[in-house]
Amino acid sequence: MAYAAFRSIGAYAPEKILTNEDLSQMVDTTDEWITKRTGIKERHIAAENETTSDMGVKAAKKAIERSGIDPAQIDMVVCATISPDYFCMPSTATIISNKLGLGNVTAFDISAACTGFVYILSIAKAFIESGMKKNVLIVGAEKLSAITDYTDRGTCILFGDGAGAAIISATEKKEEAIIDVHTGADGTYADLLMTPNGGTGSPHDSLTQEAGSCFMQMKGNETFKVAVRTLTKDVVDILKANNIESSDIKHFVPHQANYRIIKAVGDALGMKEEQVVLTVAKYGNTSGASIPMAINDIYESGELKAGELLLLDAFGGGLTWGSALVPFSPLLRF
Ligand code: ACO
Repeated sequence: MAYAAFRSIGAYAPEKILTNEDLSQMVDTTDEWITKRTGIKERHIAAENETTSDMGVKAAKKAIERSGIDPAQIDMVVCATISPDYFCMPSTATIISNKLGLGNVTAFDISAACTGFVYILSIAKAFIESGMKKNVLIVGAEKLSAITDYTDRGTCILFGDGAGAAIISATEKKEEAIIDVHTGADGTYADLLMTPNGGTGSPHDSLTQEAGSCFMQMKGNETFKVAVRTLTKDVVDILKANNIESSDIKHFVPHQANYRIIKAVGDALGMKEEQVVLTVAKYGNTSGASIPMAINDIYESGELKAGELLLLDAFGGGLTWGSALVPFSPLLRF
């Protein structure tokens, strides 16, 4: 049987930085409020002409190079995004695969908001384990600044842009394999986090409304409470199902939405500070890109070593959630 191995990671954060101080000039807020309530200090913002696929390509190039796998061997590209290059089609994954020159590969996007990366990990794992694909490029990429209302202080302080990518490939070695991925969703909470306009469900039934119609709206406080509950349960379930203790986890990589959510979940699970990967202060919430950007941070700082066990945990609009137990299994070892 083929198993699926997490081979490599890459990420990209745009050059421009939007600080809390900058935001306090735009809306009625302060650095102190944002820091205390979210842990965010700054976020990266894409250039006006920089698309989600541009960022995805930059992250993907690093992941491919670090994987040691010939790009010609990549047979599927899946992109998780809620801020695609184009609203309906083509998919951002097809644009990314074309820009990378990957030729005729299977390529498609999925929409699971901040849980997107865990969802595409589960898709890559399933395709590889079924024998349908061998080397899958997964990309979480977001230009959330394009769907953020910079007059709404309740949301604009949270979001940033960026991309992260990974190569998942077939292996026969069970010790290299992704152990488990759990995903879930509950549409009864759909109205907590949404872009209410610009689709066929909008009051105007229009796909061509003016800029601003696709802005995100969020019931932050309610979302916060459901997030802590769901994330904690999700992790408890996946650890129990696989007979793994939280102390066995080398790097706990939660979705980077809010420091208080991460702290509450980490504490409930008995995670030590050194186990918890935190990038929320410098990137804010980059939705589907947040987990791979965080993994890339520990990779580039030399903290992530071959064989170490990652626990991923995410939560987002939908509502969706997911968690994964992933040993880091690079082919190239330095
Ligand atoms: N600056 C100053 N004051 C503010 C700001 C701001 N930026 N935003 C809100 N406030 C005010 C509110 O108006 C309110 O004032 P009031 O008491 O006079 O009415 C007060 O602060 C408290 O507001 P809350 O919304 O209750 O603040 P809370 O502590 O919940 O923090 C936040 C808000 C940061 C949004 C938090 O609720 C949160 O992080 N929620 C979860 C976000 C999340 O995880 N989303 C899921 C993933 S996102 C995705 O899928 C794309």
